Amino acid sequence: MTITLTVNGVDHAVDAPPDTPLLYVLRDDLALNGAKYGCGLGQCGACTVHVDGKPVFSCVTPVAAVAGRRVRTVEGLGTVDTPGILQQAFIAEQAAQCGYCISGMIMRAQALLDGVRRPTDAQIRAHMQPNLCRCGTHGRILKAVRRAADMMGGTVPQAVRS
Ligand code: FES
Ligand code: FES
Repeated sequence: MTITLTVNGVDHAVDAPPDTPLLYVLRDDLALNGAKYGCGLGQCGACTVHVDGKPVFSCVTPVAAVAGRRVRTVEGLGTVDTPGILQQAFIAEQAAQCGYCISGMIMRAQALLDGVRRPTDAQIRAHMQPNLCRCGTHGRILKAVRRAADMMGGTVPQAVRS
């Protein structure tokens, strides 16, 4: 079955069974390897991408469900040479240890900052909750999201900074 989807602003026609996980199509057909396979069960967030601006677990999203919709992956935020703001912030805070969760973390954080320019500490924590980091770098990830919010022009209330 040929399915057409738009990824990072580019239209693609992929030939895949309709129940193929979006994650597999991104990685195996489109060579977009930022999103990672962690649990494959919608429980860790390593595979997080955006569909029409909302964060989804691409490991449990059938590709047929995103036909004609806008998919955004971490590759759409920036490049190695010109990293996006969240990518810059994660680098500045050295938020990665092994790095496996980071693509998903950045995409979940981007969804927050797309809608809330001045997130509180509680909002950031609640929003990031579905994404897990086995290395335990959550504190640095939180700082990176705060930093990105500052860089984007939002000012995180002083009371929630540390
Ligand atoms: S790999 Fe998709 S939620 Fe874990
Ligand atoms: S940095 Fe290793 S899982 Fe998060």
